[in-house]
Amino acid sequence: MIQHQYDLRHLNTFGLSALAEQFAVIRTPSDLPLLLAAAGHPAQVRILGGGSNVLLPPTLPGLTLLNQHTGITAEYLDDEYVSVTAASGENWHHLVLWSLRQGFSGLENMALIPGTVGAAPIQNIGAYGVEIKDVLTSIEAIALDTGEVRHFGLEDCLFGYRDSIFKQKSIAGKFYLSKIKFRLRHNRHALKTDYGDIRARLQATLGGSPPTPADVAAAVIEIRRSKLPDWRIWGNAGSFFKNPVVDQALFNALQPAYPNLPAYPTDSGAVKIPAGWLIEQCGWKGKRIGQVGCYEKQALVIVNYGGATGDEILAFSEAIIADVQARFGIDLEREVRYVA
Ligand code: FAD
Ligand code: EPU
Repeated sequence: MIQHQYDLRHLNTFGLSALAEQFAVIRTPSDLPLLLAAAGHPAQVRILGGGSNVLLPPTLPGLTLLNQHTGITAEYLDDEYVSVTAASGENWHHLVLWSLRQGFSGLENMALIPGTVGAAPIQNIGAYGVEIKDVLTSIEAIALDTGEVRHFGLEDCLFGYRDSIFKQKSIAGKFYLSKIKFRLRHNRHALKTDYGDIRARLQATLGGSPPTPADVAAAVIEIRRSKLPDWRIWGNAGSFFKNPVVDQALFNALQPAYPNLPAYPTDSGAVKIPAGWLIEQCGWKGKRIGQVGCYEKQALVIVNYGGATGDEILAFSEAIIADVQARFGIDLEREVRYVA
């Protein structure tokens, strides 16, 4: 049941070798107390989903639990909405495809995001104008130390851009998110196609015909495949950094020197600037140091070209952070979770 010195190389999308001191698969929440007891209640316990947002060190003390708790159910709420409950170890993209096959909409813009359902709320995953917070209604979570079951409603999750309560110091790493509930539409789909790339792709494939949720998912899948490296070939964790949100004063100060600086206003009156643009301006796009590089089609993605270590990737990312700070006075923050 518990394996020792287990190499997680094939369980993280960066393809980093990382020896877990103790390792086990969790298939149902009732396994949790048994596994903790079998491991001798180690001080450090962590959940691993698809390993698509982590930068792992060479050795991981304590117990690493690979989440493979699966199952999806649906309950019709009224003539418009359906409640879908997914076990946290389900593959996210599998849930998206399953929902489309049932005729449900709401997840289509987030097609092809790697990883598990249970990790998705932690950074409030999002793509092409939709975030999980737009469709999530509640989370069932189990405290790793006491086994207490807690429910987090939408408001409790404190979702923000790539942020949630589950990243706050007092809570981070303390819960196993076991089930996620969504409210999707089964009728009268309200599609979000205003994101530039999607609109253009739908126009090219459908002309003026109205798209279905599956058409939107197909467009998203095509766009993502054209921009992002396949992690099975080139190890990566998607966007390595978050897009920085800066105040209007800093944006105004930069604008005269960089009139093409792309920016998106946020609800709070601040401005979101694409980190990929800042990194590209600093000359990093396509650059490679040893086995680590900045992807040539998307500067926000750092790639392990084979055999790189976590420390090398971290050093590469720190050099990027330093250059962007020196040139623009903007601090880039990592999106990828550095696991210690
Ligand atoms: P992991 O990497 O396994 O874990 C991430 C963190 O969550 C860790 O701290 C882990 O301990 C914790 N965790 C995982 N499962 C649980 C659980 N059940 N309970 C408690 N804690 C848990 N993200 C986006 O938002 N949008 C994108 O468009 C996007 N595109 C990507 C493209 C590529 C090619 C890649 C490789 C990644 C991309 N990502 C994107 C990032 C990543 O897919 C998401 O963050 C995803 O939700 C991570 O899921 P995972 O299961 O792999 O999590
Ligand atoms: N850009 C450049 N050069 C680059 C890359 C981007 O100039 O090399 C600029 C361009 O102006 C482009 C803009 O950045 O128009 C936005 O680029 P893109 O549409 O590729 O999106 P992104 O901001 O780089 C974000 C998310 C992605 C998500 C996409 C689509 C973050 C940190 N990343 O990327 O999420 O899939 O939008 O919605 O918010 C992830 O989180 O891992 C991830 C891949």
